[in-house]
Amino acid sequence: VKVVACYSIKGGVGKTSTAVNLAYEASRRGIRVLLWDLDPQGAATYSLRVKAGVQGGAKRLAGSDGALRPHIRATDYRGLFVIPADFSLRNLDVLLDDRKRSSHRIRSLLGEEADRFDLAILDCAPGLTLVSESVFAAADALLVPVVPTPLSQRTLEQLGDFLRRSEQRPVVMPFASMVDRRKSLHRELAATLARTVGGFLSVGVPNASAIEQMGVVRAPVGVAAPRSAAAVAYRELWTEVAGSLWS
Ligand SMILES: Nc1ncnc2c1ncn2[C@@H]1O[C@H](COP(=O)(O)OP(=O)(O)O)[C@@H](O)[C@H]1O
Ligand SMILES: [Mg+2]
Repeated sequence: VKVVACYSIKGGVGKTSTAVNLAYEASRRGIRVLLWDLDPQGAATYSLRVKAGVQGGAKRLAGSDGALRPHIRATDYRGLFVIPADFSLRNLDVLLDDRKRSSHRIRSLLGEEADRFDLAILDCAPGLTLVSESVFAAADALLVPVVPTPLSQRTLEQLGDFLRRSEQRPVVMPFASMVDRRKSLHRELAATLARTVGGFLSVGVPNASAIEQMGVVRAPVGVAAPRSAAAVAYRELWTEVAGSLWS
């Protein structure tokens, strides 16, 4: 199973929107997708109309006798399954800290589902925590939304510094998120990032009301607004990501 984590140190940059829309785009192409909502706020779970909550909480999910299987839920979309968020995930750090080799916990739990899924997408909470380290160990690729502002550029550098010092080396795939073409600062920074940051994806996601609406309509933009620029962007983004995952 290939593992892609939508990850950023920063909040509110488009991780969840990316996780949900890429999970949908992949499933539409016949890939069996498991979207694991690791953010206790549960926005991905909500957007896919899945009931939040995991029976027994984070402990039964990722504790010593934990397993993903009992918690996997179907969605309205064929081939797209979700492990819902649970409020107790806010304690996942403490739980992982208790375990030996905790940094491989997420990978080994996903490994048990390898025969049932081709792709796991992890929707991460912001921050750089023990959970993030377990995510880095599990992920083949980190998909990092970067809003073209000087501050996001800095957090991307911080992530790079951290990974260089760590044993885990997922492929980092940053991409421009919430790009406002009318703002010259956005245009210039997006172009600079694409030119100067290694691995920066060529597809960016525009700032679009269709994406904002996802919290209201509770469906991927490919379903709610299939002809929108946002839907086109996610389709192209998926093609680019898949190309490098299965190259
Ligand atoms: N490309 C976009 N254009 C407009 N709004 C966006 C875009 N991406 C995300 N949003 C909105 O910004 C907010 C944060 O996005 P979200 O995907 O939840 O980010 P994160 O998971 O990084 O916190 C949400 O209200 C979402 O609807
Ligand atoms: Mg989120």
